[in-house]
Amino acid sequence: MAENIESHLVEKRVFKPAKGFVKGARVKSLEQYRRMYRESITRPDKFWAREAGELVWERRWKSVLKWKVPFAQWFAGGKLNVSVNCLDRHLGGPTRNKAAILWEGEPGDKRALTFQQLHRDVCRFANVLKRNKIRKGDRVIIYLPTIPEAAIAMLACTRIGAVHSVVFGGFSADSIRDRIADCGAVAVITADGGYRRGAIVPLKKNVDDALHGGTSIKRVIVFRRAGNDIHIEEGRDVWWHRELEYVDAHCPAVAVDSEHPLYILYTSGSTGKPKGILHTTGGYLVGIYSTMKYVFDLRDEDVYWCTADIGWVTGHSYVVYGPLANGTTTLMYEGAPNWPEPDRFWRIIEEYGVNILYTAPTAIRAFIRWGDQWLKKHDLSSLRLLGSVGEPINPEAWMWYRDKVGGGRCPIVDTWWQTETGAIMITPLPGAIPTKPGSATLPFFGVDAAVVDEKGNEVSANVGGRLIIRQPWPSMLRSIYGDKERYKKQYWSEFKGRYLTGDGARRDKDGYFWIVGRIDDVLNVAGHRLGTSEIESALVSHPSVAEAAVVGRPDELKGQSVVAFVTVKGSVTVSTSLKTELREHVGIHIGAIAKPDEIRFAEALPKTRSGKIMRRLLKEVASGKTVTGDTTTLEDLSVLAKLSAEE
Ligand code: PRX
Repeated sequence: MAENIESHLVEKRVFKPAKGFVKGARVKSLEQYRRMYRESITRPDKFWAREAGELVWERRWKSVLKWKVPFAQWFAGGKLNVSVNCLDRHLGGPTRNKAAILWEGEPGDKRALTFQQLHRDVCRFANVLKRNKIRKGDRVIIYLPTIPEAAIAMLACTRIGAVHSVVFGGFSADSIRDRIADCGAVAVITADGGYRRGAIVPLKKNVDDALHGGTSIKRVIVFRRAGNDIHIEEGRDVWWHRELEYVDAHCPAVAVDSEHPLYILYTSGSTGKPKGILHTTGGYLVGIYSTMKYVFDLRDEDVYWCTADIGWVTGHSYVVYGPLANGTTTLMYEGAPNWPEPDRFWRIIEEYGVNILYTAPTAIRAFIRWGDQWLKKHDLSSLRLLGSVGEPINPEAWMWYRDKVGGGRCPIVDTWWQTETGAIMITPLPGAIPTKPGSATLPFFGVDAAVVDEKGNEVSANVGGRLIIRQPWPSMLRSIYGDKERYKKQYWSEFKGRYLTGDGARRDKDGYFWIVGRIDDVLNVAGHRLGTSEIESALVSHPSVAEAAVVGRPDELKGQSVVAFVTVKGSVTVSTSLKTELREHVGIHIGAIAKPDEIRFAEALPKTRSGKIMRRLLKEVASGKTVTGDTTTLEDLSVLAKLSAEE
């Protein structure tokens, strides 16, 4: 990206933390934040040793950080177990009988699990894993709805040192197959089906299709959730509930090295192949423990609800590990926000007395559209703190969230982070940092964030540039699974020794960060990262398609919508039914979220003389703008005229 990133947003409103909130807060003033931040940057060893010291270690670390660019080892020499920190460590006192998970299924079924019950369930299921010959270091795919068993399966893996890779329940069989192949998984944990807007998603059927023709998978453990008919492959598939009959609840935890892999989570990058982001144990746990505690300003009595699906990093860090590591009650909801009616979230908040709500701008925009009447039906006065994550939140949505959901009294933490960063990186601390609608404000402790130009020089206030991180942090990704070179190249090569986030941003005169969005070829659709080239590859794999280019178009509700420009093979005639077919085709190959919102057939795509598709031009065409940018490198100008004409 040669040109500077433009950012036109000027926002003057500032909201200081309310006195009542500050009184009970963990960090009470901007000065205190700055003091702690300074220490975390100048003496990271001291800062992070203190945070890590609040967790349980089987053996203490020898050094806090060993950093050989770009490979970090946090708490090297230390040994610990994640499930012990999320469960066992809370069993000695009153937390033992506190709800660890409050869960509501989409059809309205409910469950509550105390820390003790969850501990027991995790131990039993860990024994099921062992019984099924799953060992330390083995990779296990988890393809489940957002039900307690998803958390149980994740924690059971950690108990025995197995490495989980959760695949979002909306992904297709092909996506599962690719992920199994990439990480060489030996087992899949799934359910017969899951609920979505009243329908049953055939999870087990998708797994069967993914395994068709043979993979590295030896065992499939199936939880009965929806009761739909499924095929059980003898010798490969077993029922979760049957397996439990053979095990007891005693399962000693395996203490693993701090750098032992904890999980792999696939995310979109700018090439066609999803990247297996690798997170390890000690640093990750310390990072999410600490961010959870300070950013959500936790109190013992909190009911905390993060609405993310378990299949995304937010579901890992802030539905499961972050809250449980802190002994916090985490609420999980399986279904859609508008099922059976658009007040489902507000109903849940009222019923469970939710104190902290952490959701995504795309949901907030949908609520605005559905209308305030749905909120008015419910008492939301239990809320004391609101959070946002996943994409930039537009100031008007922020204001609506504050006024309508938070009743004007709840601070909003707009948290910027990524699958790769593992934990929140830029965020207000609600008792300390004044907020501005649309800004993620200031970096969290230990995060040395900066905005730089193409040469890597820091830009001055209010000038757009690339967002980078200049020092390693505990919860950072350690590599792309099985591909160290790609890890180096993608994140650490543009500015040597500095982490490239792939986002554009600016800082205002107060040092506040304003995130503009992705600068690489990655879209953010309803808070989900989608690689344009992944969607292009899916389109091109259709026999009628010659070439495809996918771009994003600003979308009021989803942030960005997917627009595909497609050229077809010589003999193919274009039609509306072909469009439908192509959309379905993308659905099958990637999942429904990646289906193009619009497909435009074109005779040719605009290319540079070197053959590169000029996406910048396509973006302008897609959003109905006249193409204003530089077209001097365009090989054939007439292509553009035709594209714009083809409405
Ligand atoms: O572009 C940023 C956007 O989401 C990207 C990370 O996506 P993913 O790895 O799927 O993780 C999403 C949940 C952490 C970022 O590169 N993003 C995330 N949070 C924000 C955001 N953009 C602006 N403001 C945020 N608060």
